[in-house]
Amino acid sequence: MVVGRPWSMQRTESGLQQGSTDGQSTTVQNNGQPRMQPTRTLSSDHLEGLLTSPSMRSLASMIADTPRSDISMMSLEPHPTFVEAWRCLRKAIIRFRDIPVGTIAATDPSEEALNYNQVFFRDFVPSALAFLMNNEPEIVKNFLKKALRLQSNWEKRIDNFTLGKGAMPASFKVQFDATRNHDVMMADFGESAIGRVAPVDSGFWWIILLRAYSKSTGDHILAETPECQQGIKLILNLCLSEGFDTFPTLLCADGCCMVDRRMGIYGYPIEIQSLFYMALRCARGMLKPEGDGKELIERIEKRLQALSFHIRSYFWLDFEQLNKVYRYKTEEYSHTAVNKFNVIPDSIPDWVFDFMPMKGGYFIGNVSPARMDFRWFCLGNCVAILSSLATKEQEAGIMDLFEERWQDLIGEMPLKIAYPALENHAWRLVTGCDPKNTRWSYHNGGSWPVLIWLFTAACIKAGRPHIAARAIELLEARLAKDHWPEYYDGKLGRFVGKQARKFQTWSIAGYLVAKMMLEDPFHLGIIALEDDMKVKAPMSRSASWTF
Ligand code: GLC
Repeated sequence: MVVGRPWSMQRTESGLQQGSTDGQSTTVQNNGQPRMQPTRTLSSDHLEGLLTSPSMRSLASMIADTPRSDISMMSLEPHPTFVEAWRCLRKAIIRFRDIPVGTIAATDPSEEALNYNQVFFRDFVPSALAFLMNNEPEIVKNFLKKALRLQSNWEKRIDNFTLGKGAMPASFKVQFDATRNHDVMMADFGESAIGRVAPVDSGFWWIILLRAYSKSTGDHILAETPECQQGIKLILNLCLSEGFDTFPTLLCADGCCMVDRRMGIYGYPIEIQSLFYMALRCARGMLKPEGDGKELIERIEKRLQALSFHIRSYFWLDFEQLNKVYRYKTEEYSHTAVNKFNVIPDSIPDWVFDFMPMKGGYFIGNVSPARMDFRWFCLGNCVAILSSLATKEQEAGIMDLFEERWQDLIGEMPLKIAYPALENHAWRLVTGCDPKNTRWSYHNGGSWPVLIWLFTAACIKAGRPHIAARAIELLEARLAKDHWPEYYDGKLGRFVGKQARKFQTWSIAGYLVAKMMLEDPFHLGIIALEDDMKVKAPMSRSASWTF
């Protein structure tokens, strides 16, 4: 979908005014407070955008069909929580030599900062989107440029081992160096992190954000600079290098993404695979075909084909597929095998049979030899929708699952990061007895408000904004009162997380992005990718060996 900036920008006395589809707009006043105003008419450009994009066409009719009560944020005055969120987000901005370069992870005065006073790449994404949607792109541009400097300027050594060139850090902090009398940046590539794992997701998020910045501002010059082109190439070279793999998915260590502690996601976690797919698609659109760019684009194309086939075929689970796995024969040999990875049906956990609705499905957590991790992971599934890794049927299936299993996946506080929780022996074995990841807490079945932005974007793309509106309403009723916790605990997400930071920036920014997207669904264009005809339909299983 190409929705560059189909709305118009006008300067008003009180600030910048941004048009959208419903006859209202968000005005950012000079005092930094957002305000809703009735304005705008659709220009012929808007109409052309609406008519040429199938998604937007269905979106427009879908919005018209959505009951007004479900879109409560379309009222003229912004919700007090929305205003408060902007205030908190601005407090989290960090400057490097007087230039805003990011937002710190949390501004909780009651807890020891640990590394929460750093700018985490993944955490900054919703902040960046909020600023872009509010027409404040400078901080995003500064972040993107600083990240490149961190990528190329450092030799990343962990003990005696040097990390691959192109890795992006998990986070950085800004410190004042009194002897040199200026700010310095300190990056963490995993060498200080708990578990010493390098983040695989940081580079992907950087690429995705670079595209979002270009789409939102119309400024393609940044992405075309030699520095950005080189940055993209370095990240992709790391992921596309040849090795011993027989799968197109990326092999990862445990804890290499949002779930950054041991949680049994080693192997081929869906979160990384979806982000990988999305980053490849974003990169393909930004890379210049000059020099070695052409060859890289070809490698991207091939990988996209293989990756989408593999994930759409082997990670997808619905009632029918579950029944097939349940009846799998084992020890099959040669290319005629149906049970290619030799998964033993006895390894299917009991909970899946109850959890799987007749209608709906999802991409499971992991697929590797003799191992299917049947757990649900929210981020990977939402990104699969946004990147169109999920086919239209799969997209609808994931949405059906959200609706059918509302209590489990959304409960009282959106949204569950993973389902279900590991308990007892499994918890001991898989997490290594991690006291932070006890059942229904933190990464182990905790509820993370930040996920609301991904969920909302996925709902809008799938044509079901009313579901997102329902979840946002739940979140809005508590989040500010509870001081914006990092996560909630319990089966229904009812309790503020045991060790949750308060004033967690991505909880704040995630909420803002969700609100702004629902208010003006055209924002979706900066973060979603429409299905691309160039990605061919999946090959049949039997055909995959004949090449
Ligand atoms: C926790 C989360 C991680 C996040 C970090 C900063 O470690 O697991 O995903 O980036 O906090 O908020």
